Amino acid sequence: MASTIKKIGVFTSGGDSPGMNAAIRSVVRTCAYMKVDCVGIFRGYQGMIEGDFKPMDARSVNNIINKGGTILKSARCDDFRTPEGRKIAYEQLKAEGIDALVVIGGDGSFTGAMIFNREYGFPMIGIPGTIDNDIFGTSFTLGFDTALNTVVDCIDKIRDTASSHNRLFFVEVMGRDVGHIALNAGVGAGAEEILIPEEDRGLDRLLESLKRSKQSGKSSSIVIVAEGDKTGKNVFELKEYVEEHLPIYDVRVSVLGHMQRGGAPSCYDRVLASRMGVKAVEALLEGRTNLMVGVRDNKLILTPIDKAIKGTSKMDKELIRVSEIMTT
Ligand code: F6P
Repeated sequence: MASTIKKIGVFTSGGDSPGMNAAIRSVVRTCAYMKVDCVGIFRGYQGMIEGDFKPMDARSVNNIINKGGTILKSARCDDFRTPEGRKIAYEQLKAEGIDALVVIGGDGSFTGAMIFNREYGFPMIGIPGTIDNDIFGTSFTLGFDTALNTVVDCIDKIRDTASSHNRLFFVEVMGRDVGHIALNAGVGAGAEEILIPEEDRGLDRLLESLKRSKQSGKSSSIVIVAEGDKTGKNVFELKEYVEEHLPIYDVRVSVLGHMQRGGAPSCYDRVLASRMGVKAVEALLEGRTNLMVGVRDNKLILTPIDKAIKGTSKMDKELIRVSEIMTT
C-alpha cells in the first residue's frame, strides 16, 4: 500500500554532534530517492514554532557530509515544553504540509517528539546524535567516535608536554552524567587513571595509584576526569588535593570543553549517519512511528522511543577491567 506520508520534516536539536550533517544529507537524499518531499526545520523546536522551514532536495545537501556542527542549527527550546508552544508548532507543520518528522538529537529531543506524537499523532523517528553515547538502544550515537578521536589526539599532545616536564595532568572531558568518552578515550590514550561517574573508587585510591606510578619510574601521568565524575572535586580541586598530599608532583589541568563537539566527522560517524538516515525514512514510509534507529553488532535496529528515553546506556565492564590492567 502506498504510504500516506508525502512530506517529511527533518531537524537537529539539543547539543550538536559531528555526523549530524551526514544524517541530514542521508534523510534528504533518501526522501529524494523515494520521491517524498523533504523540509529542513531550522533551530530545532524553536524553528518549528516560528515556521523556520526550507524545502530541501538532493542538491541542498551537497558537500556537507564532511562538516561538523549542523547546517540546520540547533537550539534548546523552552516554548516547546508548553502545550501552547506545541499547538503553534503543530499548526506550522500542518500549514507547511509536513506529515512526519525525523528528529536528530539526544533523549531530551526525543522526549519532545514523543509528547508531540501523543498529543497530535504526528509520526516521528529518532536518530541518536550526541557525543556522550548515553542513549539506550544503540551501541553508538552519532558523534561519539569523532569525539573520541578528538580527545585522544588532544591527550597525545598533552602527553608530549607532560613527559617533557615530568608533570601530572588532570584532563577533563565531556559526557554529561556518563563516562563513555572518558573510559574509551582514556584507554585509547593510555591514561594512568580514569575517573568516571559509574565507578567512584575514592580519592585514597587515586593517591595510592599516583604514588605507585612515581615509584615505578613513570615520567608523566595523565588522569582523565569525566565531567560528571563523583569524587566530589572538580579538576582544579583535584589538582590542589594532589599537590597537598603528593608534593612530589607538578600538576597542571586541561579542560577540553567544546572542542570535543566540533570538527569533521570520522568515517565511522559518516557511514553510520548515512545508514541511520535511510533507515529512518524507510521506517516512516512503512507506517512506523515512535522509534529510534540504533546500531548493535553492526546491524541497524529500531527501539521504541520511550525505552530509548527511559533506559540507561551501560558501561562496558570489560573495558573498565582492561583500563585497570593497563594502568599497572
Ligand atoms: O550532550 C553533549 C554535551 O556536550 C555534554 O557532553 C555536555 O555536558 C553538554 O552537552 C554541554 O552543553 P552546552 O553546550 O549547552 O554547554
